[in-house]
Amino acid sequence: MTSKIFKRKPIGELLKETESENSLKKTLTAGSLIALGVGAIIGAGLFVRTASAAANCAGPAVTIGFVLAGIGCLLAGLCYAEFASMIPVAGSAYTYSYTTMGEMVAWIIGWDLVLEYALGAATVSIAWSEYLNKLLGYFDLRIPYEWSHSPFEVSTLGVNGIMNIPALFIVFLLTMLLIRGVRESSFVNAIIVIVKVAIVILFIVFGWSYINPVNHIPFIPEATNYTDSQGVPHHFGGFLGIIGAAGIVFFAFIGFDAVSTAAQETKNPKRDMPIGILGSLAICTVLYILFAYVLTGVASVEDFRTVGKEASVTFAIQTYMPGFGWLAKLVTVAILAGFSSVILVMLYGQSRVFYSMSKDGLVPKIFSDVHKKYKTPYKSNWLFLIFVGLFASFVPQDIVGDMTSIGTLFAFILVCVGIWILRITNPEIPRKFKTPGIFYLKIKKAKIIIPVVPILGVFACGLMIFGLGWVNWVRLLIWMAIGLIIYFAYGIRKSKLRGK
Ligand code: ALA
Repeated sequence: MTSKIFKRKPIGELLKETESENSLKKTLTAGSLIALGVGAIIGAGLFVRTASAAANCAGPAVTIGFVLAGIGCLLAGLCYAEFASMIPVAGSAYTYSYTTMGEMVAWIIGWDLVLEYALGAATVSIAWSEYLNKLLGYFDLRIPYEWSHSPFEVSTLGVNGIMNIPALFIVFLLTMLLIRGVRESSFVNAIIVIVKVAIVILFIVFGWSYINPVNHIPFIPEATNYTDSQGVPHHFGGFLGIIGAAGIVFFAFIGFDAVSTAAQETKNPKRDMPIGILGSLAICTVLYILFAYVLTGVASVEDFRTVGKEASVTFAIQTYMPGFGWLAKLVTVAILAGFSSVILVMLYGQSRVFYSMSKDGLVPKIFSDVHKKYKTPYKSNWLFLIFVGLFASFVPQDIVGDMTSIGTLFAFILVCVGIWILRITNPEIPRKFKTPGIFYLKIKKAKIIIPVVPILGVFACGLMIFGLGWVNWVRLLIWMAIGLIIYFAYGIRKSKLRGK
């Protein structure tokens, strides 16, 4: 049994699968991968969670939180890129771990990625719903609180949420787009990415001269405790505050790894994958640091805790940047479009991971049935519409958001460990891109590997998991326990590798 659950999938077999008759269309290039990455990355994390991290954890030092989260992603991204250039098969971290750490760990990662992609999509769709109401407000319209919030939320006026219909609506719409095929989806995505990046740059450029230096003093608040309006206590300021903020804004980086899930649909994956992953990460990190610096300079921590808590970017412009009402409107529209592209890539990543798991027999075949005309795993798209739709409709954003963060951080840790293992077990496999900072020491006849970058990656992601607090650790453990039950009840018996 022990040897079975650690049975690894041979890489040669993986590569053969790309040529199987059910394989997906190859349409993506390095440029479209970067667009896919940026499309997945910039979203609710930047436009919604920056303010909440500033309010609850770190004040202006949320900027440092972004630096820390960016460093963690860079380290994990370097490991992802080596994997992606070596194993150009759909499935991302799931596929990589199947070849390195065996079936059970692969299952754990695949299951964990549901948190990242499916719950990530749900989180952003809830944020989309908030901003939709903001947009409707410009026309004196509004979707009632009950029908745009989960049953676990109560407004300041005491109105209870029932169901988040706009969040469900956007998930439905984008699922339909995905089912139509990658080419169309990538085209729509590319337009949205341009708008999204433009809006971030406009806010940085115009907002810069409205920075009130007082808001940046002290840049790192003194360590204390802060209890938010929901009654949840947080470490505010100091080192713990910054780590907490990093864990929250880490959400803003999630998505660059979704690029790796598109390997099977990429024309030249060995060259284009590393460019796609690292390129999109680099662009976003620079934009985020500047954006957070300007946002926390224009409005104060007190604002983010009270009147500017929701739609903080629009609030900051309307309140502190006179004459820029047009920018506030533009930002609202762009944010709606931007969130849509994030949800799109998340849903895309999710269906591709389950496509691979289904091919391996770990989840039912229905997840890998490809549409005759569109060549997309349409049945999988439909099933995840139901799953994501349920979370989007009935669960509050902060819960799904934090679960997305912690699940992704955990996957990143396993990827860092995986690249280390693969350097030991399969050093002979050609790697178009090699993770830097992995050194070899020769002592007599023994060759010792010193994987500095993977170890630092594990450390940085671990630090952010620590910052997210015990409630989230428990949630992750429960999700994983459910996954293991399913694995031992279904996956382990149906696995195709098992029969060999
Ligand atoms: N990085 C994505 C966002 O910020 C998930 O919305």
